[in-house]
Amino acid sequence: MRPVPEVREPDEEAEERHGGSDPTFDSHGVFVRSIPAVLCGPGRNLLPYRPWRTGTVKTAITELFGIEHPIIQGGMHYVGFAELAAAVSNAGGLGIITGLTQKTPRDLAAEIARCRDMTDRPFGVNLTFLPTVTAPDYPGYVDAIIDGGVRIVETAGRNPQAWLPKLKDAGCVIIHKCTSVRHALKAQAIGCDAVSVDGFECGGHPGEDDIPNMILLPRAADELDIPFVASGGMADGRSLVAALAMGADGINMGTRFIATQEAPVHPNVKQAIVDASELDTRLVMRPLRNTERVLNNAAVERLLEKERTLGPDLTFDDIIEEVAGVYPRIMQEGDMDAGAWSCGMVAGLIHDIPTCRELVERIMKQAEDIIGGRLQQILSGTSGTS
Ligand SMILES: Cc1cc2nc3c(=O)[nH]c(=O)nc-3n(C[C@H](O)[C@H](O)[C@H](O)COP(=O)(O)O)c2cc1C
Repeated sequence: MRPVPEVREPDEEAEERHGGSDPTFDSHGVFVRSIPAVLCGPGRNLLPYRPWRTGTVKTAITELFGIEHPIIQGGMHYVGFAELAAAVSNAGGLGIITGLTQKTPRDLAAEIARCRDMTDRPFGVNLTFLPTVTAPDYPGYVDAIIDGGVRIVETAGRNPQAWLPKLKDAGCVIIHKCTSVRHALKAQAIGCDAVSVDGFECGGHPGEDDIPNMILLPRAADELDIPFVASGGMADGRSLVAALAMGADGINMGTRFIATQEAPVHPNVKQAIVDASELDTRLVMRPLRNTERVLNNAAVERLLEKERTLGPDLTFDDIIEEVAGVYPRIMQEGDMDAGAWSCGMVAGLIHDIPTCRELVERIMKQAEDIIGGRLQQILSGTSGTS
């Protein structure tokens, strides 16, 4: 367990200066009211007394990655190209290039160089360890990351232990994506610096435990010492505040970042996300224990019918048409029925296609408004019934 932060009594002078327990702003509009002592009791992530400043949401994740806002764009196959990663990083978050979307380590090196031309801010590379018979050239991809000067790596899929010594020796900071507390603890034990905890809601592979973030995040907070971000179902300032309240140090978003101006995917994909509701995703490949949350379409209906018909006899070969090699046709050609593609339940909260900067700034503003407004009003008993 992480040590409980030191509990300090509220600064009485500051209380007096800023009007006792009423929400107060200083002459620059900076919110300065102290957090009441009653909130600083035992428990992880309950902040010690510190005046809260608008525009300065700093967490262990912003510090670890040297970023402005605690918002990460998760690796996404055929979405996480240099354009998106750079746009997210330029907006103050952490953009991530998806390593395996690049066909060879050489291509990845070129993509890293392209991203560096578009941003001077930190960005990362996602390395997904797939359950494939013929493994991609992982040593080559690791070299491309290190030689390209990237120092933030998001690992996912499988235990990244074999690659940690080389990455850590090169000075890389590792955030591992996991879908359970036991995997998060394992990541911590093998030396990962942070984890991204993906709840049942998430687009992509939620694992086989089906634990939503309302439970998974506080469980992670209870067990982990290293920082973690909440992933799956995150869309706006409400998500960020809820994630912070449950002990996370930031958020990781996939689906929300696809519906942005800079995401280099076909407009049909963005529109499909805007048009979808929270009821429109399906879980596929559960019989193969490779569960994936995807947006429903004709190919997914066909795939699910095969799963129903073949039951435990289903093999990967039976569904190859619906899942293999479909991403370029969907993401680049906009053929929305070409196959199964990852999409989160959060589609139900996505109604527009902003720039990454507009999105990140909107999230931060809404989060700050909630913390400094509604939550403080509730604390001070002035919230009425809303
Ligand atoms: C289209 C798409 C492709 C994805 N591809 C990958 C991937 O290649 N590797 C990976 O680790 N995660 C991948 N993810 C998962 C995301 O990085 C992120 O964890 C997830 O989308 C979070 O859930 P959300 O969509 O509800 O925000 C993908 C997600 C989507 C939507």
